[in-house]
Amino acid sequence: MHQQEDGKPRPFCLQWTFAGANSPARIQLVVWLRNFRDMENTILVTGGAGFIGSNFILQRMERASDAIVNLDKLTYAGNLHNLESIANDRRYEFVHADIADRALLRGLLERREPRAIVHFAAESHVDRSIREPDDFIRTNVDGTFALLEEVRAYWNGLAKPHRADFRFLHVSTDEVYGSLGSADLAFSETTAYAPNSPYAASKAASDHFVRAYHHTYGLPVLTTNCSNNYGRFQFPEKLIPLMILNARDGNPLPVYGDGQNVRDWLFVEDHCEAIATVLARGRVGQTYNIGGWNEKRNIDIVETICDIVDEIAGLRGAPCRSLITFVKDRPGHDRRYAMDASKIERELGWRPLETFETGIRKTVSWYLEHEEWVRDVTSGSYRQWIETHYSS
Ligand code: NAD
Ligand code: DAU
Repeated sequence: MHQQEDGKPRPFCLQWTFAGANSPARIQLVVWLRNFRDMENTILVTGGAGFIGSNFILQRMERASDAIVNLDKLTYAGNLHNLESIANDRRYEFVHADIADRALLRGLLERREPRAIVHFAAESHVDRSIREPDDFIRTNVDGTFALLEEVRAYWNGLAKPHRADFRFLHVSTDEVYGSLGSADLAFSETTAYAPNSPYAASKAASDHFVRAYHHTYGLPVLTTNCSNNYGRFQFPEKLIPLMILNARDGNPLPVYGDGQNVRDWLFVEDHCEAIATVLARGRVGQTYNIGGWNEKRNIDIVETICDIVDEIAGLRGAPCRSLITFVKDRPGHDRRYAMDASKIERELGWRPLETFETGIRKTVSWYLEHEEWVRDVTSGSYRQWIETHYSS
């Protein structure tokens, strides 16, 4: 049992045997040092090469002493360049795998004995889910189910104190709640689920499975539902990086429908800090809404980006705003999202630190300064996506 997958004994394993002359019994004390150290400190992150996952790992490695195991399939959205600065850190291990690979998960959990799982891995782009929903079911639903099953078996095998301390944190989205009218109250943790896109439906299904594993099996889960993130490393299929790069290159800025749809924007580092806070102090079985208290219409976001790009990159001909082009709406496009994030503030003391004004400037600057990163992700399949999606 206390062996690695390859059958070798674990390193740093000491066995102390006490056999006092006057003692009627031999007292054997086995101290599994490595077990102890790992159970205290190792976090298994799924999807850690993506936008939010890589920001989370870098932030944790900087601010805490945890060891991090990053399991990622490296789909088009996964990028190991994001994590180059920690690639050789002894506390970090990358595992190239699918969350649906149960045999691999079993071996990994047994070998690394994490004290927590932070589950980011997902297909995350609404437009792709509308075109080809299959992968969303495969990863977000079947993959989460596979992960839950293996984690349940692993957790059942843990010693009692470790079982109590273990956490499975599921990272989810505000999109599970559906769409708000302009006068509606923001989504709270008790708002009924009403997912509208295949992406949102797949995330809602995964949330329900996570909830059921707590209710039925007692697995110590936490779920976070967050609003739209922005910041470095976001794949430029999403609104903000797409607009920054198109503006930089003088390409059309495709705004869906009338541009009046509203999203609640949160700087990615604030989201990562919120996840760490829930992981550390969240109440088991609870869900926490996370948001930026920052509702903006899409058109306002695009115009803000235009103005910052003009300012930083310098006006070349007409102002960037002249590139704004209203295009066919996204089918089933949710009108408004807004998060009531008062529970996490009241119970755990988390609030976003970055203002939108400073966060969006940092983000535009980051994309304009990281040409190599942009070049790497905008070749091949990216070009194909842009051509297919925006030409129809
Ligand atoms: P992303 O698309 O940038 O990254 C997803 C990562 O998961 C990639 O590294 C990808 O390679 C990996 N992955 C995909 N399928 C996998 C599989 N089968 N096995 C292992 N790895 C796999 O996504 P993101 O924007 O960083 O979102 C991360 C999580 O946060 C998702 O669960 C998403 O639903 C949720 N979320 C995102 C936002 C947002 O604004 N981006 C907001 C709220 C919640
Ligand atoms: O709300 C949280 C969700 O935010 C996350 O769960 C998703 O993973 C994430 O992708 C994001 O979903 P959205 O659909 O809100 O994000 P996206 O950046 O794709 O679009 C933001 C808004 O901008 C939305 O109203 C659609 C609009 N849009 C988007 C693109 C790509 C445009 O007008 N033009 C575009 O080209």
